[in-house]
Amino acid sequence: MVILDGKKLAQKIRLSIKEEVNQLKQRGIIPGLAFILVGDNPASQVYVNMKTKACEEVGIYSINHRMPREVSEKELIDVIKMLNDNPMVHGILVQLPLPKHINEEKIIEAIDYRKDVDGFHPYNMGRLARGNPLFSSCTPLGIMRLMEEYSIDVKGKDVVMVGAGNITGKPMALMLTNAGATVQICHIYTQNLKEKTKRADILISAVGKPGLITEDMVKEGAVVIDVGISRVEGKVVGDVDFENVSKKASYITPVPGGVGPMTIAMLLYNTLQSVKLKEQ
Ligand code: GUN
Repeated sequence: MVILDGKKLAQKIRLSIKEEVNQLKQRGIIPGLAFILVGDNPASQVYVNMKTKACEEVGIYSINHRMPREVSEKELIDVIKMLNDNPMVHGILVQLPLPKHINEEKIIEAIDYRKDVDGFHPYNMGRLARGNPLFSSCTPLGIMRLMEEYSIDVKGKDVVMVGAGNITGKPMALMLTNAGATVQICHIYTQNLKEKTKRADILISAVGKPGLITEDMVKEGAVVIDVGISRVEGKVVGDVDFENVSKKASYITPVPGGVGPMTIAMLLYNTLQSVKLKEQ
C-alpha cells in the first residue's frame, strides 16, 4: 500500500509556482487573487486564511473582502463587478457556502469567467464538459495531478465517485470521463452503495461523513481517494475508515495531508494560468 502524499507534491508545485511568479515579477507583472468571505462561518475563515497564506508564500498578491452576513446580493455583485474591472486582479474567489438569502448561482455567474479560478462558472463547467477546459475546480484537478504523479493510469478503469456536488463530484466525473475512465456517480439517493463501490478500481469519496467508506466496501487493490474533511473529537478525519481500508488499498490518500493541500496548490496554479491567459 502506497500513501498518496498530497502535502509533499503540493510543496513541490508551490515551489515551481513561486519561481514562475518571480519571473513574472521581473517583467513587472504581479499576480493578484481576490477573496470574498461573507459572514463568519469558522470553517470558511480557516480555508480563506490558508489560501491567503499560500498566496503570500509564493508571492501572489491577495486582497481580502470580508462582508457581513447580512450583505445584500446587489452589494456582493457590485464588489464582484469592481474586481472584474480591476486589472490588478487575475482571480476572484467567493468562498462558499453563502448565506441562504443570497442566490449562489447568480453570484458565481457575476464573476468574469476569465477570473474564475475556482472553475465554478457555468462557462467553465461547460468547457470542462466539452473536454476543452479553461479553469477547472481545484479539488478534482488536484486529484488528477496527484494520481498522475504516482503514475496511476485512469484510462479504462472503473471509477466510483461518491458525492455529486458541483465542487468535487461532478467536475471529477467529467475530468475522469475526459481521461477515458468509466465513471459512476453515487449520491444520497443511491441504492446499494456497497455493491457499486466494491467494483471500483478507483474509489473517490467527497461526502463529509466520517466512517462512510468501510473496508467491506472496497475492492482488493483499489485506489482510494478521500476528499471528506470532518472534525471528530477535535481531530480532522475523512470519509474513509483509513486504518482498515488502507490494508486493502493499493494507493490511498491520508486526511489530512492528501487532497486538501493539492486543492490549494491548484488554486495557485489556476491563478497563474489566468495571468498567462491575460498576458499572452
Ligand atoms: N467551499 C468549499 N470548497 C470550496 C472551494 O473550493 N472554493 C470555494 N470558493 N468555496 C469552497
